[in-house]
Amino acid sequence: MRWVITGASGMLGHDLMERVQRGGHEVIGLDLPEIDITDAASVAAAIESADVIANVAAYTAVDAAEENENVAFMVNAVGPQILARHAKKIGARLIHISTDYVFGGEDSEPYAEDGVIAPKGAYGRTKAAGEWAVRANTDDYLIVRTAWLYGKNGKSFPATMKALSETHERLSVVTDEVGQPTWTVDLADLLVRLVEANAPSGTYHGTSSGQTNWWGFTRLIMETIGKDPAIVDETTAAAFQRPAPRPHYSVLSHKALEDIGVEPIGAWDDRWRAAKPVMFD
Ligand SMILES: NC(=O)c1ccc[n+]([C@@H]2O[C@H](COP(=O)([O-])OP(=O)(O)OC[C@H]3O[C@@H](n4cnc5c(N)ncnc54)[C@H](OP(=O)(O)O)[C@@H]3O)[C@@H](O)[C@H]2O)c1
Repeated sequence: MRWVITGASGMLGHDLMERVQRGGHEVIGLDLPEIDITDAASVAAAIESADVIANVAAYTAVDAAEENENVAFMVNAVGPQILARHAKKIGARLIHISTDYVFGGEDSEPYAEDGVIAPKGAYGRTKAAGEWAVRANTDDYLIVRTAWLYGKNGKSFPATMKALSETHERLSVVTDEVGQPTWTVDLADLLVRLVEANAPSGTYHGTSSGQTNWWGFTRLIMETIGKDPAIVDETTAAAFQRPAPRPHYSVLSHKALEDIGVEPIGAWDDRWRAAKPVMFD
């Protein structure tokens, strides 16, 4: 199969390029400046043919999006519209990555794939619009929502916590944000498995199984790098004033994957133990 990956230089893009190649597929990786997904002429010139276009390009600066919603909208909504139309024109399947931020974040049961979306901030609004743009412009798509992503090739929460633990005796981490830490390598693997399984068009959730909060994740990170988890103190999100609101509850259901017989990503703590040597080698 011939894949084209847009946003190939990003955190997920790196690992997706590697996984697609390892799967024996042809792959072309594109990113700025060789493609600008907000420009239809650029997309048409850069992607002549493909079986799969995987769009992992995005405006991901959650706080900056509050002041630059128009720019974020171009990348997160107009770009997916252009890619969906182009994919339809050349007969390619479009994979598009979305986020837990499309939900309100106040539930206490895992969000269903067809749950009501209610984004609280600019980033979530623009990503929600991107989902609608994909559904409205092609019939052959996989929208995969992910959350709490970490990877070797980007700024990641585990790397930040490790660095902080080297300069601080104690860490204060929030307990009132619950989610599913997810390794880019696992998400890349899921995307390839979905395509290889010829999954029906629709919306899926690509996060680890189980749930924790940032405090619990940090304790495990400390344990696996040989530090005492007891250095991690509990705090609440109210202690960290940031421009964009964060969801308190970001746990995503994997029912749509289970319904089609595609195995969801494993438990977040097992997957962190597998990721740690790769992340910090
Ligand atoms: N990171 C998370 O925790 C998280 C959580 C939930 C969902 N997601 C979603 O997962 C996906 C991958 O995220 P990531 O963390 O891998 O993102 P990332 O590291 O920020 O990578 C995004 C890539 O897209 C490129 N890009 C930006 N604007 C573009 C344009 N107009 N045309 C072409 N390329 C463009 C960026 O280039 P520049 O660097 O030059 O701008 C960057 O290389 C995104 O859809 C994101 O919304 C991420």
